[in-house]
Amino acid sequence: MTRDGLIEAARSAQARAYAPYSKFRVGCALEGESGAIYTGCNVENASYGLTICAERVAVVKAVEAGERRFARMALVTDAAAPASPCGACREVMAEFAPALKIESVAPDGTSCEWTLDALLPARFELPEAEVSS
Ligand code: THU
Repeated sequence: MTRDGLIEAARSAQARAYAPYSKFRVGCALEGESGAIYTGCNVENASYGLTICAERVAVVKAVEAGERRFARMALVTDAAAPASPCGACREVMAEFAPALKIESVAPDGTSCEWTLDALLPARFELPEAEVSS
């Protein structure tokens, strides 16, 4: 998929965000190695702490669909400056794609791109962890 297509998919997901508490709507689109796109939006909860971020929704959907290798993610919010993924999401993404390319885009088109290993150096890893299991 093109870069613009991935950002567009993230914007569509953002429109489905459930964020009545923070009003901060997040959308993302994760491209699997197969070329399939998995989207996510944040889903908040009245207990606040049970809120799940857009990025983790996308990863969980992808893994359940049988895909565990990812190349790129587009992230969109309405923040003036491109938002970077939270720490919890970084750990979850790094489980499957430590070198994931992440592009975050603000409403005016301003964008920022990182690789996940730059955002999360020295991630936690069990010595016997295997992605294939
Ligand atoms: N949020 C995400 O969806 N992704 C992030 O990386 C950071 C924060 C959501 C969680 C919550 O619904 C709202 O943004 C405000 O924190």
